[in-house]
Amino acid sequence: MARRKKIYEGKAKVLYEGPEPGTFVQYFKDDATAFNAEKKDVIEGKGVLNNRLSEFFMIGLENIGVPTHFLKRINMREQLIRQVEIIPLEVIVRNYAAGTMSKRLGLEEGTRLPRPIVEFCYKDDSLGDPLVAEEHIIAFNWATQQDLDDMVALALRVNDFMSGLMYGVGIKLVDFKIEIGRIWDNDFQRLVVADEISPDSCRLWDIETGQKLDKDVFRRDLGSLADAYTEVARRLGVLPSNATHMPKPTLIN
Ligand code: CDP
Repeated sequence: MARRKKIYEGKAKVLYEGPEPGTFVQYFKDDATAFNAEKKDVIEGKGVLNNRLSEFFMIGLENIGVPTHFLKRINMREQLIRQVEIIPLEVIVRNYAAGTMSKRLGLEEGTRLPRPIVEFCYKDDSLGDPLVAEEHIIAFNWATQQDLDDMVALALRVNDFMSGLMYGVGIKLVDFKIEIGRIWDNDFQRLVVADEISPDSCRLWDIETGQKLDKDVFRRDLGSLADAYTEVARRLGVLPSNATHMPKPTLIN
């Protein structure tokens, strides 16, 4: 069989040419990176879990009328997606202070914010994805004012959906990041949620215990990342059909 053409390889995913024009295949790797790839590891099963979780969230969003790039899951590690033009911004929504917001503003992690706060970072690894203001975005033509308004509205809908879903299974959605893409219909464009939504790009804390169930487990060496993601998947009733995360066999003396 002819090898598929690789379009792009990122830190956690690979994009291949899709079976039809206007589609891509998104492959989820087991690689975990943090601090702009200074910390790296391979977490067995992470790709499988994120493929399933991202599918679950994207289908849910579609079902409540939030457009996404997701078309269908192909297998354990791959999904078929619509080809979009990615807007070079990371859209972060925060409900509680954590991570860089806590550092920047001296807020204790876990402080409830007065309302959800939407931030934009310019997507450029060599610059460390710097926080930017709407002024920069418009002046540098990364997006228009209309795009920005639409992006904020989209991000807040994703926040409401994800917060409610997580609340229902005893998890607090502290913050998350999405990427947004443009789809062109002749001269008309629409914005859709792209990339992935998974515990790699959210902060998820157990409501009762405060236990972290997201990539901070890896960033801060808090235990098994695969166990944390498996717990999220298990609570949501989303587990890979034939490949859940299994502990490695241990020798019995
Ligand atoms: O994650 P970090 O502390 O570096 O940055 P943050 O600005 O506090 O991140 C806010 C949220 O966006 C967290 O849920 C991160 O996991 C997510 N994020 C991401 O998925 N990818 C990035 N490049 C930056 C943040």
